[in-house]
Amino acid sequence: MNKNEKILQVKNLKTHFFTNVGVVKAVDGGSFHLRKGQALGIVGESGSGKSVTSLSIMRLVPKPAGRIVEGEILYRGVDLVKKSQKEMREYRGNKLFMISQDPMTSLNPVFTIGNQIGEAVRRRQNLKRHNLKKKIIEMLDLVHIRASETRISAYPHQFSGGMKQRAMISMALACQPEILIADEPTTALDVTIQAQILKLMMEIREKYNTSIILITHDLGVIAKFCDYVLVMYAGKIVERADVKTLFKGNRHPYTKGLINSLPHLGKKQRRLESIKGQPPDLLNLSGGCPFEPRCDYSVKRCSLDYPPSESVEKGHLISCWKWKEI
Ligand SMILES: Nc1ncnc2c1ncn2[C@@H]1O[C@H](COP(=O)(O)OP(=O)(O)OP(=O)(O)O)[C@@H](O)[C@H]1O
Ligand SMILES: [Mg+2]
Repeated sequence: MNKNEKILQVKNLKTHFFTNVGVVKAVDGGSFHLRKGQALGIVGESGSGKSVTSLSIMRLVPKPAGRIVEGEILYRGVDLVKKSQKEMREYRGNKLFMISQDPMTSLNPVFTIGNQIGEAVRRRQNLKRHNLKKKIIEMLDLVHIRASETRISAYPHQFSGGMKQRAMISMALACQPEILIADEPTTALDVTIQAQILKLMMEIREKYNTSIILITHDLGVIAKFCDYVLVMYAGKIVERADVKTLFKGNRHPYTKGLINSLPHLGKKQRRLESIKGQPPDLLNLSGGCPFEPRCDYSVKRCSLDYPPSESVEKGHLISCWKWKEI
């Protein structure tokens, strides 16, 4: 595989939840790709479908309500959507690893933390018992879990939320996956540890040319860490661009709203602008653009038809009827 080849291609992904009150189209037609060594950020308000996108790639969509109803997820050309859960075990861990918002999706409650990190280490290195223990302690130290020597025999429920998250990160470091998906990896952590964890992730990316998908609410983190960004709104990718374009040349009214809600560093602090209106109810979407009720640029057509994805320039895609005038 070439250095910059597309390691993951997601095509027209639709993941829906079939609930008692109706169908929630959590992800509705997302297409994007991830190159080897690339860091792709996903941003968007709560409920926009970021986690469901990553759970779909891992094939961990909650059952029975959730289902991938359409689309392809090609990992090195192999469609993961067609894989059985048993076959997926070959991919999770070494090839794809997810640091999730809920650490318990990755940690097993019945095994000790040490056991689980040891399992991850053993996939890469054949170590004898004593050396394996040393390595596990080293991995826990790396993510700043104190008293690591005694902590290795603890079970996940004996760890705090932040500690569980850090244990998961040390597993990710041990697995050295080709694709690391980090869903809000630092939300439960304090600021200093947040910075350390992000630094660690940058280091593994450099060392192993790992491809990373990073989901975060923090646009500052996106600016520092990512090459390319997807902006999600109500289950749709509304804008895709490289990170510089996203901040300086964005064209979607929703992206503009997100960027304007950032504090402007270095400038005199002005009031934060929040995006007016409420996030949409996914059970009651019209056929039009879901951002239309909150959009300053909307015209009649916006409430009737969903805008197609159009290319502003190479690598910059947008779904908005009015982008040429923005
Ligand atoms: N198990 C489920 N059953 C029904 N609906 C679900 C389920 N899980 C997620 N959803 C719905 O799918 C939509 C997308 O959820 P998702 O968790 O991907 O949002 P998100 O962008 O990750 O938000 P956040 O920033 O809060 O983490 C939401 O409307 C949510 O209510
Ligand atoms: Mg989420």
